[in-house]
Amino acid sequence: MSPRSILAGIGAYLPERVVTNDELARTVDTTDAWIQERTGIQQRHFAAPHETAAFMGTAAARTALADAGAQPSDVDGIILATSTPDQAFPATALRVQAALGVTKGFGFDIAAACAGFVYALSVADSMIKAGQAKGVLVIGSEVYSRILNWADRGTCVLFGDGAGAVFLRAGEGTGTDQGILSTHIHAQGTLGDILYVDGAVGQPDKPGHLVMHGREVFRHAVSRLAEAVEEALAANNLKAADIDWLVPHQANRRIIDAMGRKLGLSTDRVVITVEQHANTSAASVPLALHQAWTDGRIKRGELVLLEALGGGLVWGSALVRM
Ligand code: UT7
Repeated sequence: MSPRSILAGIGAYLPERVVTNDELARTVDTTDAWIQERTGIQQRHFAAPHETAAFMGTAAARTALADAGAQPSDVDGIILATSTPDQAFPATALRVQAALGVTKGFGFDIAAACAGFVYALSVADSMIKAGQAKGVLVIGSEVYSRILNWADRGTCVLFGDGAGAVFLRAGEGTGTDQGILSTHIHAQGTLGDILYVDGAVGQPDKPGHLVMHGREVFRHAVSRLAEAVEEALAANNLKAADIDWLVPHQANRRIIDAMGRKLGLSTDRVVITVEQHANTSAASVPLALHQAWTDGRIKRGELVLLEALGGGLVWGSALVRM
């Protein structure tokens, strides 16, 4: 039997600086009322210059390892999801590897925007199942404050910075089905122009700012994520009622509520952090998971469904028995 990927530890890091809607409204043509009504967001964290994707990813990884009771020497590989890397190369994962003092194994980044963590989890799970690694750090770390267009009020109020991480350990589990039960990842490149960053180091004349056609993304998010949820349940012969917790991507409270209703889950079974963190892209799912894990809501043995969608379009799910 191939090993299961057990979520042995969960960690997170948020920049110290909190920016409220009211503070943003001093420089952006917006209001706290509009942002809260359309998105649920009340505040976000913004990184200081030293708080890069590598810095925050390292901090989140350290707490995930500590939570798992693991050492850097237990790490066989690091997969880091980010759209805001410190450098084009080395991969941000390798800056984290060096900072942690990990001296073996592999490391690479995954660019799958807001679905990056689910993508990274899927790849790590496949590698563990294939016997290529026994301990893998999966990290989502983002500094979207550095790619926002402050002249576009339709996007600049939506995002925040932060990092989340899990340490996956190969094991048979304490019960028969502990660990990652399934992952599903999808992409539709033909929808690349509804949510993108208009540049990168390969295109020096472009500023590299986030562009989003919000309504279209919203429409796709609701239908694609609903399909992803159905797909995860069907693949595991489960019903929506079997799910203990939904940990969705934190882009918009209205999308999250729609997913909760779809699953018939009461709101107290859906982990919501968008009010406090805004949309932290690849960091949003592990940050939410970490919050509900550390405050004791999510417990060992419970069934947790993670889902996310982002620019690409990319989307996916992971079903986990904690
Ligand atoms: O993480 C990746 C996935 N991303 C998502 O899932 C995001 C999906 N999209 C959304 O969450 C929503 O579409 C938004 C929150 C981005 C926008 O909400 P909306 O209800 O679709 O608003 P809208 O873009 O249609 O704009 C409605 C109005 C417009 O004014 P008019 O044309 O009706 O007069 C905008 O100009 O709201 C205006 N508006 C604002 N007003 C105050 C747009 N942004 C702002 C703002 N403050 N920040």
